[in-house]
Amino acid sequence: MRHLISPLDFTVEELDRLLDLAADIEKNPKKYQEACKGKKIATLFYEPSTRTRLSFEAAMINLGGQVLGFSEASSSSAAKGESVADTIRIISCYADICAMRHPKEGAALVAANNSSIPVINAGDGGHQHPTQTLTDLLTIRSLKGRLDNITIGLCGDLKFGRTVHSLINALLRYDNVKFVLISPTELRVPEYIIENINAAGAEYVEVTKLEDVIGELDLLYMTRVQRERFFNEEDYIRLKDSFILDKKKMTLAKDDMLVLHPLPRVNEISVEVDKDPRAVYFKQGQYGVYVRMALILTLLEVEV
Ligand code: CP
Repeated sequence: MRHLISPLDFTVEELDRLLDLAADIEKNPKKYQEACKGKKIATLFYEPSTRTRLSFEAAMINLGGQVLGFSEASSSSAAKGESVADTIRIISCYADICAMRHPKEGAALVAANNSSIPVINAGDGGHQHPTQTLTDLLTIRSLKGRLDNITIGLCGDLKFGRTVHSLINALLRYDNVKFVLISPTELRVPEYIIENINAAGAEYVEVTKLEDVIGELDLLYMTRVQRERFFNEEDYIRLKDSFILDKKKMTLAKDDMLVLHPLPRVNEISVEVDKDPRAVYFKQGQYGVYVRMALILTLLEVEV
């Protein structure tokens, strides 16, 4: 039995197979519509979510399966003090696979260590968000045609942004990926991620102004400054509007630069950018369903 706790749990070859499967699902959805008939996914969300929870549920429904779960800790027995370990032992009796989001780093790993069904980490605190990474990789591969030989700018809250940490770790396994890390100094990428970049021998620069570097990028990955990760409201207010991508900045970008964002956005991308064909963050949400369908099939070892 396999779990998905970190994007690195799959080898590059396994990841390629998963992305190929997701691409086939996109082309031939009917072929998969009964693949998980009789199977259930439990979505255990101790933190708010729109895309991740609902795309997992849509993915299982598209595969002919069913869903159960909770969308906030307060409506589960966590509110009475039940541990993640005990919860997953019980959920293992009710479902075939589960996706868990939790505010504490490492919670999904604790669940996996106590589970008899596959556990998918749907985000653990500021740590990892592997299925967002799968979504990002599928979006980049589908729309850019490659995962190597790219210059990617990651912009915004690079300190707490778990999607950024997961994506950097995943892209480090491909050739000639250059990282342009764009953040206020207070929200720099954590040192352990810089160590990973150095260990992989990849190129990176850290800058504080988006307009200085946007013209060099093949991809721009925007992120939200996350109010919920700050201990101090004053710091959040000071930093929240550090970067706003607008039409004017887009005029400095390459004609084929793609703009991604894991969403939700607050105001770091002006709505006027939505109509730009280079803005692919809503398409990214659709790719999230295909890749989660592929992941469910893979972890449940369902052959179609
Ligand atoms: N991208 C993402 O994780 O969105 P949600 O928080 O809405 O699930």
